Amino acid sequence: MSLKIAAIREHGADERRVALVPDVAARIKRLGCDVALEAGAGIASSYPDAAYKDVSIEADRATMLNSADIVLAVEPPPADVIKAMKPGSILISFVYGRNNTDLVKALRDGKITGFAMEQIPRISRAQAMDALSSQATLSGYYSVLLGAVHMPKILPMMTTAVGSLRAAQVLIMGLGVAGLQALATAHRLGAVTEGYDVRPETRDEAHSLGAKFVETGVDATGQGGYARELTADEKAKVRSVLSDHIARSDLIVTTAAVPGRKAPRLIDADQIAKMKPGSVIVDLGAEGGGNCEGTKAGEIVQAGPATLIGPVNLPSCLAEQASELYAKNILNLLQQIIKDGKLTLDMTDEVIAKTLVTHDGKITNDAVRQVVEGSAAPAAATPGPAPAAKG
Ligand code: NAI
Repeated sequence: MSLKIAAIREHGADERRVALVPDVAARIKRLGCDVALEAGAGIASSYPDAAYKDVSIEADRATMLNSADIVLAVEPPPADVIKAMKPGSILISFVYGRNNTDLVKALRDGKITGFAMEQIPRISRAQAMDALSSQATLSGYYSVLLGAVHMPKILPMMTTAVGSLRAAQVLIMGLGVAGLQALATAHRLGAVTEGYDVRPETRDEAHSLGAKFVETGVDATGQGGYARELTADEKAKVRSVLSDHIARSDLIVTTAAVPGRKAPRLIDADQIAKMKPGSVIVDLGAEGGGNCEGTKAGEIVQAGPATLIGPVNLPSCLAEQASELYAKNILNLLQQIIKDGKLTLDMTDEVIAKTLVTHDGKITNDAVRQVVEGSAAPAAATPGPAPAAKG
């Protein structure tokens, strides 16, 4: 019998993405699998049921799940999904296990093999499976557009019959995947751009995107390509350099994150108070507690002279292509675990070992196991399941 791969309809009120798009469904079929989709699952991301050729469209979720060998989802799924899955089957979705302990327990107790897409290791071989990066790329792009429509001025220089309008000053803080895309987008739209990050290797990346790099003299290179937490002295030094740049910016996008920790605070209320009237901050750290003092996740607030935007789940605002990229990330993972139409889980493979969160009734990820079964407290402010998409 062929393996059956099924994608569910997402449950979050503002989640528009879907884990399977028609093109990827066809490619999964070529792996020798049967493919099913919960009816209507792709509608919000512009993929009507009819676009999925040779895919079984199933109206009853529980029946579909009960016969599926591999279940695909975007957000950490709700309890009824796990309950309906058969023991030994596989879930591939974002899991954020340290924040979703009930989900992890349900996976463990249901003997479901859980792959957590946020844990795909950041190694060259796994880049095509890296869902955090594919979604962050779109968030970075969209953050600049979102900021631009809340500004009382335009981004590019413009010459008119009554004189020239100056290009806006845009500062992007945090030059990871999202930040670099934000920098590129602001540059394409004609703004004068500056970038800042605690990792010095981002200097060259900023320059290559036509931006100046804000030099603070602090190097916070951490492990695995991520930043480390700064000391108090380093934070003070950085603050004094950044204050001037913040004050003269028309638009700031903050994207700073340190894995497993609350979002680092990059801008405080005093710095916001010294910004120009009409300036805008888009805080992509909103879901992790905010990079700016006063950010409210999912809200747009006026903070003195500045408009402070705290978007959540930006990829969902670009659901068609966010779903396309995510589904391709999943396809590349499936190609690692399906050979000749059969499941082959090679636990010695780094990608598989690091992405697995549960297998065979056990929690396989140490950090998640410590939170779920040990005494460690949950990482309260770690970005979790993007619950709502508000622009
Ligand atoms: P992230 O979302 O964890 O963080 C975003 C950015 O915030 C990072 O550039 C980080 O240095 C910066 N940041 C942290 N604390 C800060 C602070 N106090 N002030 C200013 N900036 C701060 O990172 P993301 O985007 O997920 O990836 C980070 C890096 O990981 C990438 O730029 C890349 O070097 C590496 N990476 C490698 C991949 C691979 O080899 N397959 C794939 C994706 C990323």
